[in-house]
Amino acid sequence: TRRVAILISGGGSNMLRLVEDMGRGDHPARPVLVLSNDPEAPGLAKAAALGIPTAAVDHRPFKGDRPAFEAALREKIDAARPDILCLAGFMRILTPSFIAHYAGRMLNIHPSLLPDYRGLHTHARALAAGETEHGCTVHEVTADLDAGPILGQARVPVKPGDTPATLAARVLEMEHCLYPAVLRRFAVGDRTPVRLP
Ligand code: GAR
Repeated sequence: TRRVAILISGGGSNMLRLVEDMGRGDHPARPVLVLSNDPEAPGLAKAAALGIPTAAVDHRPFKGDRPAFEAALREKIDAARPDILCLAGFMRILTPSFIAHYAGRMLNIHPSLLPDYRGLHTHARALAAGETEHGCTVHEVTADLDAGPILGQARVPVKPGDTPATLAARVLEMEHCLYPAVLRRFAVGDRTPVRLP
């Protein structure tokens, strides 16, 4: 069974869905670490309550020294010997050298239909542009931010009266279906993109 480390920064709802799916008997992978750059991230306590090993590397004391921060991250990650890394609401930009260390083994979920709306504030930007459709993407992490090969996408309608918050909630619900579906495939070497719904 493939060993999976999940990197989070916040609530960890995607992390929980991945863990929940890996708990089903037929799953080809299992969680070996949940790691956060924020020691107070609520997702850490949720993972610990489920008996998953957790760790935190607070980015703040590194004061912008990304290589030193990433060396500390790598030490924690590599100690868990993961085969696959899942970024799930991990909100730090990673350097090309960190990404190269995990080449072909790192996934990210992003709240837009990539290649549209890379970066932050995706829901507000999609609304401001008058999009009628929005969604989320799971992609392989490469040195170009939010631009690696797409492994899955899920679409949602934009509805009249949507705010960034209502749209985000609709997208998040789809993220919870999409990410586990992609991980199941990826864990057995299948990179055929998942399309939802
Ligand atoms: C999710 O919507 C995820 O797509 C987004 O953060 C949220 C985390 O929620 N990720 C990014 O914006 C990455 N740049 P969660 O902690 O409940 O999974």
